[in-house]
Amino acid sequence: MKSYEKLLLANKAWSQEKQAADPGFFEQLALGQKPEFLWIGCSDSRVPAEIIVNAKPGEIFIHRNIANQMIATDFNCLSVLQYAVDVLQIKHIIVCGHYNCGGIKAALSKQSPSLVITNKWLMHLKHIYRLYKNEIDALPTEEERVNRLVELNIIEQAQILAHTSIVQAAWHRHERPMIHGWVYGLSDGLLNSLITLHPDTEIDPLYQYDFQTEAAL
Ligand code: CO
Repeated sequence: MKSYEKLLLANKAWSQEKQAADPGFFEQLALGQKPEFLWIGCSDSRVPAEIIVNAKPGEIFIHRNIANQMIATDFNCLSVLQYAVDVLQIKHIIVCGHYNCGGIKAALSKQSPSLVITNKWLMHLKHIYRLYKNEIDALPTEEERVNRLVELNIIEQAQILAHTSIVQAAWHRHERPMIHGWVYGLSDGLLNSLITLHPDTEIDPLYQYDFQTEAAL
């Protein structure tokens, strides 16, 4: 049997198992979704969002990309964020990175001439590295430097989320969502929290939207 055929077979077994355990499971899900969480994670196959938090279909709205980045000019990220916040009215955004991330490692290396497109995605990580260069370079091993940038990137992405008009408008009008930055350990399967931003978090004025002025206009 081909590897992809195994997937189709596994799907059939999974569907039957779910039906047997809960006869209305799919009919109920087909009616609509009301997830409480938006997950922005790394594409790495070892960090499957629902599996590591034992979530069921319908519980988490998911966006994954290389090194769990929220890029303010990327319509893919932004569309997911806008739909999750404004339509699904999610209560929490979780940015989840992981130690030993290949994207972070690549960002700390020279640009690969064969990956001209990927380099551009990694460029944002190089900018974050430059902000914390002194702290990162002081660490003795490559592993520690990579893992520190993994953490700083998660914190940075949580803040970038708070800088978007979508999140600031939702904080101003609905006092949600909370933003969480979590890091996952590939070697122990555990999540740890690095940052939590509440809807009343003071945002750097440089990134603030001025809703008072907007209302007066
Ligand atoms: Co990764």
